[in-house]
Amino acid sequence: MEFTPRALEERARVLKEQLPSLPVSLAVVAGSGIELVLPEARKLLELAYHQVFPFPVHGLIGHTPTLSFWEVQGRGVLMFHGRFHLYQGYSAAEVAAIPRLAGLLGVSTYILTNAAGALVPTLEPGSLVVLADHLNLQGANPLVGEWGRWREPVFPDMTHAYDPDLRKLALELARQAGFAVQEGVYAGVLGPSYETPAEVRMLAQLGGTVVGMSTVQEVIAARHMGLRVLGLSLVTNYAAGIATRPLSHEEVLEAGAKAQGKLVKLLSELTTKLVAA
Ligand code: 6GU
Repeated sequence: MEFTPRALEERARVLKEQLPSLPVSLAVVAGSGIELVLPEARKLLELAYHQVFPFPVHGLIGHTPTLSFWEVQGRGVLMFHGRFHLYQGYSAAEVAAIPRLAGLLGVSTYILTNAAGALVPTLEPGSLVVLADHLNLQGANPLVGEWGRWREPVFPDMTHAYDPDLRKLALELARQAGFAVQEGVYAGVLGPSYETPAEVRMLAQLGGTVVGMSTVQEVIAARHMGLRVLGLSLVTNYAAGIATRPLSHEEVLEAGAKAQGKLVKLLSELTTKLVAA
């Protein structure tokens, strides 16, 4: 069955009745190997993705896919653990269901994290990139067809896809948290194969700083919903040709686990600041 705007709206209506009645301000999405917790928050509810999304959920690697609901200073924070990828066979609309649902539930700020490969040799694994922009090289767009007509504008502006104020705040807090951090451009590709060395050179020449297989569809949909977006890429490895050894998914998960502590600290500080704002 096709996944329609009506199905998502209906699911959001049902979820609103199940979720604690707190004003929600923020959604956080964790990517591959990134296990998020909010130390100074209370988890009030956790739902498996098959209870959350009105389409079949299958094969998410490296996660128990759940949506959890947290209370921070009397406000609600949604945490999505696990995301949908085009390379898993999900449609662009399904990939974009996370930000759209977050928007329907009342969120105004969308923070996403992902694991990414470095396209430049100066960006070491374990460092953090605050996304300033992206390249959509996924051959898809979540606004194609009826989803584009679902919300105004039909042709959304992408000049400030990544919110300038949130970027500044994240850079500041990341430095304080002890992260090697810089701003950069996310080259979003389809996957699931990693890039060839020639493709890595191409992506770097196109202006990419990091490369990954997620994020772009979500950000386009989030902007279409009017959400403010912050994107954080955890660099887990060098991309092919820059790396000295072949890439493996295990390496990506391992590096994610190592930077975990710093990332959790940063996200909980960001959450505290943004909820209070
Ligand atoms: Cl090197 N490429 C892609 N496409 N995704 C990644 C990656 C590389 N490293 C982590 N995720």
